Amino acid sequence: MSRKLILAAATAAVVSVGGALVASADPVDEELVIDGEIPMVIRTKAPEGHPFDEVLSGWLFRTPETRSLEEDTFTNPGMLYVERGEEIWNTVEGEAGKSCASCHGDAAETMAGVAAAYPKWDADAERPINVELQIDKCRENNMKAEPYKFDAPEQRALTTFLKHQSLGKPVQVDLSQGDMQSWWDQGKEVYYTRTGQLNLSCASCHEENNGKYIRADHLSQGNVNGFPTYRLKQGNMVLLHSRFRGCIRDTRAEFPAPFSDELMALEVYTTWRGTGLSVETPAVRQ
Ligand code: HEC
Ligand code: HEC
Repeated sequence: MSRKLILAAATAAVVSVGGALVASADPVDEELVIDGEIPMVIRTKAPEGHPFDEVLSGWLFRTPETRSLEEDTFTNPGMLYVERGEEIWNTVEGEAGKSCASCHGDAAETMAGVAAAYPKWDADAERPINVELQIDKCRENNMKAEPYKFDAPEQRALTTFLKHQSLGKPVQVDLSQGDMQSWWDQGKEVYYTRTGQLNLSCASCHEENNGKYIRADHLSQGNVNGFPTYRLKQGNMVLLHSRFRGCIRDTRAEFPAPFSDELMALEVYTTWRGTGLSVETPAVRQ
């Protein structure tokens, strides 16, 4: 082969995202069944209007070691947060002298499948709310307790616990409620807007380059069905808005506040992009 041809072949396999060299690899073709009992939808036909034919869970892009940690609730480090969340569910707090369980009883029954439909329209706030904000709403209005500080360990644990009650259920946001459609529009705009010194959008990485490697990371479609996720790198549960902020920070841009309009809109839009994938919480990621 001539030197020119070798170079051309090399550039075909290696493209550049923000200056970082990336090589390509297909996601694995595997099934995910939690504890050999709960089959998970990790690839499914994309909703109408989606840029892809098929939506894929981030699990398919992880290493065999990381994938196997999620397969078994006994080895999944995120399950400790589910247990902690259950304790909080049953703990009385606030001036009303109530716990979550005082009103909602056994979460396995009353909360089954509930979190798979978030974010949802909140008529009182006249904006979409996610599970974290629904928890705060009940704490303030129904328990007379303080809302959680963003990223408080209790917020991570209780959100993980609530999402886990929907394990295996397909993600489905209802865009017909309230003004959800305009939040979807706004989220889509954020998704495709290039920002930061590196001039990248979410789509630059998760749409145009998924399947490629950026540093040691195999880029996924950036779906949100596993959140909060347990990140091995951090040794901790990571809330979705922390992940958004991390990705935005990586483009060297200013990042918006958690639960800001910008990030809520992004949550509505990215959740829709993963329509039909199973809730995997707590997913395990690198
Ligand atoms: C005093 C009773 C009361 C307490 C205590 C309470 N809630 Fe609620 N909760 C409600 C009511 C009433 C609603 C429905 C109206 C609303 O959304 O505020 C609700 C709604 C919810 C929903 C939404 C259900 C759905 O179908 O979308 C979730 C999730 C939830 N609560 C979680 C919690 C959690 C977690 C706690 C503890 C931090 C808690 N609640 C404490 C009364 C309570
Ligand atoms: C410079 C490339 C880059 C950009 C730009 C970027 N991300 Fe990411 N993102 C990554 C990498 C790398 C990971 C970790 C590997 C993976 O899961 O794709 C990741 C992971 C994620 C995940 C977790 C996926 C999972 O399965 O747990 C979500 C969600 C996500 N990104 C959303 C976004 C959103 C929304 C934006 C735009 C605000 C964005 N990303 C912008 C590189 C990027």
